[in-house]
Amino acid sequence: MKKGMIFDLDGVIVDTAKYHYLAWKKMAAQFGYDFTEEENEAFKGVSRARCMELLLEMAQIEASEEQINEWLSQKNQDYLAYIEQMDQQEILPGVLTALSFFKTRQIPMALGSASKNARPILEKVGLLSYFNAVVDGNDVSAAKPDPEVFLVAARQLGVTPEQCVVFEDSTAGIEAAQRAKMGTVGIGHTDSLGNADVVFTQFTDMDETFLNGLLTA
Ligand code: BG6
Ligand code: MG
Repeated sequence: MKKGMIFDLDGVIVDTAKYHYLAWKKMAAQFGYDFTEEENEAFKGVSRARCMELLLEMAQIEASEEQINEWLSQKNQDYLAYIEQMDQQEILPGVLTALSFFKTRQIPMALGSASKNARPILEKVGLLSYFNAVVDGNDVSAAKPDPEVFLVAARQLGVTPEQCVVFEDSTAGIEAAQRAKMGTVGIGHTDSLGNADVVFTQFTDMDETFLNGLLTA
């Protein structure tokens, strides 16, 4: 019997994955490096600091800690500029239906995100009240694929990891959930999420039978 649903934020609940990509692409261009969408798959679910390390490796750039911190802050400012005008329109199709389905049945829900911007985003799109717990990049020390963020979320919901299902759009996130011994629903494509228990292109592809099945499995 599953008793806790844990949702990633970027690329699962809201369409912000594209803005992270655009902000990194802009920085890469500054380094004279053409950062592709394919390369961006490895940045999904991964902390800002780790993404920076990956980009510097790709572009073969060495820099001082001070310079790196400046770039990190620049990336976040660019990202924040993209999401400044964000509202309910950015909630991905079918998400509200799924959240309402679980809320109506009093299934506890948590957010499990690597982002340090998670809370303000949930507020902007009006979804904060759906979640019994919000665990984000400010609360954990180990980034996905480490399971910490999901284990903390399960603990805050008062359920065991085995009772949880995680909705994720990143390879790192699916691995983190599996290391936490949780069920996994991939949102996106099987080429990057093939290890998930099941993969849907988007929430609208899940019907009530599937959502009911998650609760009884
Ligand atoms: C994750 C995104 O949710 O948050 C990553 O998938 C991002 O791409 C990470 O790097 C950290 O986000 P933020 O908002 O703290 O820079
Ligand atoms: Mg994500």
